[in-house]
Amino acid sequence: FIPPVESGEGGAILAKDILGNAIPASQILAEPADTRALVAGLAGEPTYLTVKPDGTLDSVGIVNNCTHLGCTFPWNAIDRQFQCPCHGSRYSSDGSVVRGPAPLPLKLVRVAVKDNSIWISPWTEIDPRTGETPWWV
Ligand code: FES
Repeated sequence: FIPPVESGEGGAILAKDILGNAIPASQILAEPADTRALVAGLAGEPTYLTVKPDGTLDSVGIVNNCTHLGCTFPWNAIDRQFQCPCHGSRYSSDGSVVRGPAPLPLKLVRVAVKDNSIWISPWTEIDPRTGETPWWV
């Protein structure tokens, strides 16, 4: 018996469920296209994964932690926004601020699928939404 590897290159960790069990990619990919699935990511941060129209997982994950005061928030599929219930901040599907008081875009992480495992790793490159070094690096 070889236990599954729990951490990978570049600080990658396996996406987990609320009980701390690794979530197989097939479980998330069984959801309809455009689903935002919440998993436990880096340091247990709640992280949204997106099922793309082609049935694969988006390589960008969005951390569910409002940049105003840290509330968690749902995805509103009708408005196509993340909407924070605490003080009304709204973010577009890529995590850019649509309406404050949130001061910054949502934190991103890298998502990769290998052998039905979902790996989440830190995003350290330029933030494509701002063209700058990410605020969390
Ligand atoms: Fe989200 Fe204040 S914590 S708007």
